[in-house]
Amino acid sequence: MSRGLFITLEGLDGSGKTTQIKRLAAWLQRRGLSPIVTRQPGGTATGDSIRALLLDSRSTCLAPMTEMALMFADRAQAIAEVIEPALAAGKIVLCDRFTDSTEAYQGGGRQLGSQLVLDMHHLICGNLQPDLTLLLLPSLAVCLERARHRNDRVAAQSGPDENRFEQEQDAFYRRVWEKYREIAARDTDRIVLIEGNLTIDEVHEQIAEAVAERLITAGHAR
Ligand code: TMP
Repeated sequence: MSRGLFITLEGLDGSGKTTQIKRLAAWLQRRGLSPIVTRQPGGTATGDSIRALLLDSRSTCLAPMTEMALMFADRAQAIAEVIEPALAAGKIVLCDRFTDSTEAYQGGGRQLGSQLVLDMHHLICGNLQPDLTLLLLPSLAVCLERARHRNDRVAAQSGPDENRFEQEQDAFYRRVWEKYREIAARDTDRIVLIEGNLTIDEVHEQIAEAVAERLITAGHAR
């Protein structure tokens, strides 16, 4: 059996990833391809516990290294439990965030630098690389506005508190945004950069086009 296809979605909070991953999953379903959809942090029972710890705004004083190590602990579990078995079974895996997020948020935002993150990725993740990464990068101003809006909505509900990152200052998000651009410029074969303030439909069209192309190259097209 041929190996599956590993597709990741990346972007700032408020970039529209969650909406787009749902649309992409439906698009694949209509083509008779049933993707495994997962996210990081989370996606396994262990990962959900790690996610709660990482995103809860009451987790104050997490050292940047602790934060990064927890992201990789979550990722190691997801690779072992979900991603590798699915790829080995020939499935398409759609993953909401992967190591590019750690490079952008901890490497860029927390200023730990790229090299440390890439070294950890080698060590902990066997340097597993996505076949395709869709990076959604609307303007920083739009991302911040959407994320803050979501913040207010979540605060008005009684669901889990996942606001720790959304409370960061604009300067943090500027560093994340710039690091994402740097990663996209470095890895043009793997990453499709979808920039600008596009509508949901326009972004979906660009995603569908990029995925269709990759499915043909990988021999998954139907
Ligand atoms: P999300 O599920 O809404 O995308 O939120 C996850 C948050 O965790 C988001 O603010 C980005 C952050 N994050 C990191 O800082 N580093 C990572 O490696 C990952 C996967 C997420």
